[in-house]
Amino acid sequence: MRIEDVRFELKDGRKALLRSPQEEDIESTLEYLKVSAGETDYLLRYPEECGKYTAEGEKKLFEQKNASPDEVMIMCIVDGKVVGNCDISFFKGMKTKHRASIGIALIREFWNQGIGTKMLEEIIRIAESREGIMQIELEFVEGNARARHLYEKMGFRITGIHPNAIRLKDGTLLNNYTMIKELRR
Ligand SMILES: CC(C)(COP(=O)(O)OP(=O)(O)OC[C@H]1O[C@@H](n2cnc3c(N)ncnc32)[C@H](O)[C@@H]1OP(=O)(O)O)[C@@H](O)C(=O)NCCC(=O)NCCS
Repeated sequence: MRIEDVRFELKDGRKALLRSPQEEDIESTLEYLKVSAGETDYLLRYPEECGKYTAEGEKKLFEQKNASPDEVMIMCIVDGKVVGNCDISFFKGMKTKHRASIGIALIREFWNQGIGTKMLEEIIRIAESREGIMQIELEFVEGNARARHLYEKMGFRITGIHPNAIRLKDGTLLNNYTMIKELRR
């Protein structure tokens, strides 16, 4: 699904745009994927795993996301470049179609600028406007205090723990926490 463009100002005054992905975003998306993976242990990929992402693959992914009735991808653009993205997927099964799951990541230069808040407001609005969606679900890695603060601010609560879901290169094991936001119906 495509979204309407949303323009807003970052805390430092720069102008930002939330919109659906388009072909001109491919190059900066590949850069964003790699850079963001190297800036935090709280994402699921290491930078060297980003070799599997290609321009052709991103093009297909953008087309598929924009065309799918069950998925929405939102890019955050600053100065013409992708600085982060966020996506929501609606479950399709008869027994699970009341659920949706989301993911979000930005490059470090743009943390704490209010982008996460704005993206989640949009994603929650989209989920609320879809009939039958009762809850949005996500996961975060133990120690990710910024993400946890943001999610709790937006109405998510911790519902469970996935022990040792993450194993870093140095052997450190980290838990994943699952969170749910129940939508007002
Ligand atoms: C987590 C992430 C998506 C949040 O987006 P963001 O744009 O930085 O978030 P915002 O600026 O909208 O809000 C951040 C909030 O966390 C607070 N915060 C910042 N650092 C914090 C910390 N160490 N502990 C607790 N809260 C913190 C800020 O004060 C702000 O709260 P407020 O709006 O109540 O003032 C972004 O930082 C990011 O992409 N991080 C790296 C990848 C990642 O962790 N993705 C999430 C995977 S689950």
